[in-house]
Amino acid sequence: MDLSGRVAFITGAAQGIGKETALTLAQKGANIVAVDVNEDLLCKNTHEFESFGGEYLPLTMNVTIEQEVKESVAEAVHKFGKIDILVNNAGITRDSLILRMSEAAWDTVLSINLKGAFLCLKAVSRYMLKQRKGTIINLVSVVGLMGNPGQANYSASKAGLIGLTKTAARELAAKGITVNAVAPGYIDTEMTRALPEASRAKLEDLIPLKRLGNVRDVACAILFLASEEASYITGQVLNVNGGMYM
Ligand SMILES: NC(=O)c1ccc[n+]([C@@H]2O[C@H](COP(=O)([O-])OP(=O)(O)OC[C@H]3O[C@@H](n4cnc5c(N)ncnc54)[C@H](O)[C@@H]3O)[C@@H](O)[C@H]2O)c1
Repeated sequence: MDLSGRVAFITGAAQGIGKETALTLAQKGANIVAVDVNEDLLCKNTHEFESFGGEYLPLTMNVTIEQEVKESVAEAVHKFGKIDILVNNAGITRDSLILRMSEAAWDTVLSINLKGAFLCLKAVSRYMLKQRKGTIINLVSVVGLMGNPGQANYSASKAGLIGLTKTAARELAAKGITVNAVAPGYIDTEMTRALPEASRAKLEDLIPLKRLGNVRDVACAILFLASEEASYITGQVLNVNGGMYM
């Protein structure tokens, strides 16, 4: 899979799955526009991209603020002349059972995970429409498909993002733009490292492949969907979950 000369705009790219995706796509020759609220981490990562052929443009941006999204997208297009790949990866959790969940915890998660992806998709697809080409990949989750106690806000945001993925795929297909989702299971990142050891062991037992996933497992699925080799795939949810939900 060769991404030489292509431009990838990746949200939440400072750490975890987003950073690994940026590195994986850069390895294949893509120019990377890495956006995140965490400016320090984004800039610290710069040297890790130096050995690849493409360029690395870190931009501080909050996915929930439309003006910031529009400005970052415009800056990326100004620098590279186009955006070929959008990865809507920025996401957070604020877990608790429904009866204890505050309105603020609901709103924050829906705003970042769902509205943020909508704003980025809207801003980037405007340019992709002119190019009549592009691919968009949204990070959803196994819990958006099967539910999970304590994650009403998070699972609703990810189920909503699956709906947005399918609608955008139908709206944009005739213009040469594909839209897909990647649904990771439990992946070993900061998000899951917060779990107590006993809960991790219980989780591993539930997974047919008997291990948590790693960021590389998810980045490789995103790389495939971003590649020319996946150009006839749209509106799909690709599960990367070790078989825990089939
Ligand atoms: N880790 C898992 O097990 C897992 C499982 C399923 C799905 N996912 C999804 O994959 C994606 C990445 O997860 P991760 O584990 O790498 O998370 P992470 O917490 O390690 O990284 C998320 C990144 O998003 C950034 N971010 C948060 N709010 C933002 C905002 N408003 N604007 C811009 N950037 C913002 C953070 O600064 C951070 O760098 C998320 O959408 C998550 O829901 C993760």
